[in-house]
Amino acid sequence: MTATGSIRIEVEGLREQLRYHAHRYYVLDSPELSDAEYDALYDRLVTLEEQHPELITPDSPTQKIGAEPADEFGQVRHHIPMMSLQKVTSEPEFMEFHQRILKLLEGNQPTYVIEPKLDGLAVELTYQEGVLNVGSTRGNGTIGEDVTANLRTVRSIPLRLLGRYPALVDVRGEVVLGRREFERLNRERLAAGEEPMANPRNGAAGSLRQLDPKVTAARPLVFFAYSIGRFEGAGPISQTSALEFLKQAGFRVHPLARECGSVDEVIGSHQKIGAARDSLDEETDGTVIKVNEYGFQERLGVVSHHPRWAVAWKFPPQEETTVVEEIILQVGRTGIISPVAVLAPVRVGGVEVRRASLHNEDDVARKDIRPGDRVIVRRAGDVIPEVVKVVPGGKSPRSSPFRFPTTCPVCGAATVREADSAFHFCTNLGCPAQIKERLTHFVSKGGVDVEGMGGRYIEELVDKGIIHDVADIYFLDETKLNQMDRMGTRLAEKLLAAIDHARRPDLPHLIAALGIHGVGEHVAQVLSAAFGSLEKLASASVDELQTTREIGPIVAESIHQFFSLPQTRDLLTKLQRGGVEFPSYALVRQGPQHLAGKVFVLTGTLSSMSRDEAKAKIESMGGRVTGSVSKKTDFVVAGEDPGSKLDKATELGITVWTEDEFLEQTAP
Ligand code: IVH
Repeated sequence: MTATGSIRIEVEGLREQLRYHAHRYYVLDSPELSDAEYDALYDRLVTLEEQHPELITPDSPTQKIGAEPADEFGQVRHHIPMMSLQKVTSEPEFMEFHQRILKLLEGNQPTYVIEPKLDGLAVELTYQEGVLNVGSTRGNGTIGEDVTANLRTVRSIPLRLLGRYPALVDVRGEVVLGRREFERLNRERLAAGEEPMANPRNGAAGSLRQLDPKVTAARPLVFFAYSIGRFEGAGPISQTSALEFLKQAGFRVHPLARECGSVDEVIGSHQKIGAARDSLDEETDGTVIKVNEYGFQERLGVVSHHPRWAVAWKFPPQEETTVVEEIILQVGRTGIISPVAVLAPVRVGGVEVRRASLHNEDDVARKDIRPGDRVIVRRAGDVIPEVVKVVPGGKSPRSSPFRFPTTCPVCGAATVREADSAFHFCTNLGCPAQIKERLTHFVSKGGVDVEGMGGRYIEELVDKGIIHDVADIYFLDETKLNQMDRMGTRLAEKLLAAIDHARRPDLPHLIAALGIHGVGEHVAQVLSAAFGSLEKLASASVDELQTTREIGPIVAESIHQFFSLPQTRDLLTKLQRGGVEFPSYALVRQGPQHLAGKVFVLTGTLSSMSRDEAKAKIESMGGRVTGSVSKKTDFVVAGEDPGSKLDKATELGITVWTEDEFLEQTAP
């Protein structure tokens, strides 16, 4: 097939676009496209070049890898090129890779090593006589930038190797910036009026490619080692033994790296890493699967810029672009008015996204998001999708900049933005939107739990003026319910019975239902155990509140303020008039507090007690149980079949207790 003129033009056009975007991405650290879009352009070019090899030029973006080294840094030649990886995005594609390997190995069965594909910056560290000599970025794969001084500041990079090491070794791996640190740095930048970084990878790249190593030193970068370049003398004979060597030598190797004896195991591990993705602090965009045996790796060899023995299996992208159709305003339970982008529906990470949070006025203004704009949206796990940025060069003229209204979009009352707050508030406590949100919260499972009282009823009850505050639900009767559409006698009876049931909530649920700032289900539990009744809690001083375990000054102040409001007192009286019984709660007799202040994470199944029982036991001794392992975790209790939390704990060097050890430590 020979290329027609139109294909020639498309190929040239793709190259221009790719060069432009690669420069934005690698050199300026300020991408305009999502990874998925960049990949789509790149893949299209690869396809066209495969179909029309006569069109391939040496300067095509497909013919080189990575970034040209920047002039500011010295150049370093990688003695063994740092290659890129072929990629697959589905199980069938991965199986094709595996079949190809089997064919090339003529019936020999390799084992595999699977590792998370870390989304940072690839670097090479050369150690001579065990001492870090040169550190460089991957650059274009052959020549990288000399960033030795900066890499020396990274704490997880040993300046001297431990144990037995060869006279010369190149250690390769990824420098990453943790998500939490990334967010913290961005908050600082915003506060200083600087542009935020687009994502943790750009954050890592930007932090490393600094002319002043002090700047790098102030960034909490982490290095994970994943392979070896040159190795003088008899070295590892497999990826597994290479990782083992790296660990011994003092490097971090990702705890989720696994040797797999079969493809099924690889597929299982890929899914496991995918499931753990959101709980990891370091960003991953897939897994890397490598043939384990070096002998087989050699037989398989390399093609152009990637090895035949490894593949990147990408997760579905977490970023996509779409169009903002409209910016609407939502009024929350506490009167906060939040802007929300209504989007042209787009699938992100396997889920359809139609709305994204725009946080507050400053956020919209800083990102300058306007209806009609093309934007990058991002969604990670269960987190509410957000708009990352506007894609420049969209349709013009753009619509006018978004202006925050000075009146509530729902009730028309004046809005305020207090000096120290980023949020606008609707000042009208009787605002129907606020009432609906407060009611939804009040009747929810975490609150007094009125079964069957869904959003549609709340909407209608408030809109028709049948109820005006949460206490009004206890004054509903059949006559009132009859004013509603499609409300038969049976349904009304059921609803009234559910409301009656909600006249006797337990104390934690009643407290949580009130919707006090900073008081969720857990804090409500803590307050119940500490104060024993709503009356006691309502009359507690800030001081008393603050000396309660787990309650800090901010929440203490918020609780105190809530109960000082005349409206709160009116509400409580009205609830009682409506028949709500204010329950008492057995004060928890505290046992010996030898777990005081310690933070626990439970993983796996315990044989002698339920998770709730274990939690209660820890709490009664002054400890606290959280859901995920972090640097703040003191102990991990691991039962049968522990999950990735155990790996994380090992990685962070946190003490792990078996069930027996736990029982021993908590014995009365
Ligand atoms: S192995 C030939 N292992 O992916 C082997 N690479 O496209 C190539 N990466 O630039 C490297 N995590 O930055 C390898 N566990 C891992 C990796 C990994 C992330 C990156 C690396 C490289 C790119 C290859």
